[in-house]
Amino acid sequence: MTKLGIIGAMQEEVETLLALTENIKELHKAGSVFYEGVLEELPVVIVQCGVGKVNAAMCTQVLCDLFGVTHIVNTGIAGSLCARLDIGDLVVSRDAMYHDVDAVHFGYPYGKVPGMDTTEFPADEAMIRYAFAAAEAVNPGHTTIGRVASGDQFVAVKELKEKIIACTQGLCTEMEGAAIAQTAYRNSVPFVILRAISDKADDSAEMDYPTFERIAAHRCAEVTRHLARQLKAAQ
Ligand code: ADE
Repeated sequence: MTKLGIIGAMQEEVETLLALTENIKELHKAGSVFYEGVLEELPVVIVQCGVGKVNAAMCTQVLCDLFGVTHIVNTGIAGSLCARLDIGDLVVSRDAMYHDVDAVHFGYPYGKVPGMDTTEFPADEAMIRYAFAAAEAVNPGHTTIGRVASGDQFVAVKELKEKIIACTQGLCTEMEGAAIAQTAYRNSVPFVILRAISDKADDSAEMDYPTFERIAAHRCAEVTRHLARQLKAAQ
């Protein structure tokens, strides 16, 4: 039976989803609150993981170990790395990689964690299709499938943005997706990342971010609801 782990970035997004979720039970673990319930008739576990790669990986492992989720979606906002991706547009992950992992000195490709058998963690094909359809239902004509580049940095400087583009060829940048992807990959749990663009990851980022956060939170919650519906129908 499908059980979807939903890792949201924003409080308002998680609150919006919780208002739509039935039979909620709460579990506190490792500093986060996990809400288990039923969304659109699909068993789900919803958590706001906090910022950054370590928080994201910890929550993902708890979802796998304590809740036995069969699928994972990570939603939130991201900075655009691509001129044609505007504020409000949506990105569905084809794969995810780190932009701040560098063991090049030892002969590893940029972004590769030594010991891992891949640099890019591929999202699940079926989940990509469902997430794309869900995103298009909410914001038609504004969804792109591609790479998510993650690192423990809020990117708001042009030079850093350009370095990340050159090293990753990512469509957008944020601070959790690849850590969730790596953890899901190591647990053989299918995942997808869905992000709404909140800023251009350059000198204008700090200004755009707060304005867009609320709109993005609602948009992400709505897309996640559609995704749950699709996973339910596919069972
Ligand atoms: N999340 C939203 N915008 C971001 C940015 N510019 N850098 C990192 N994470 C983000």
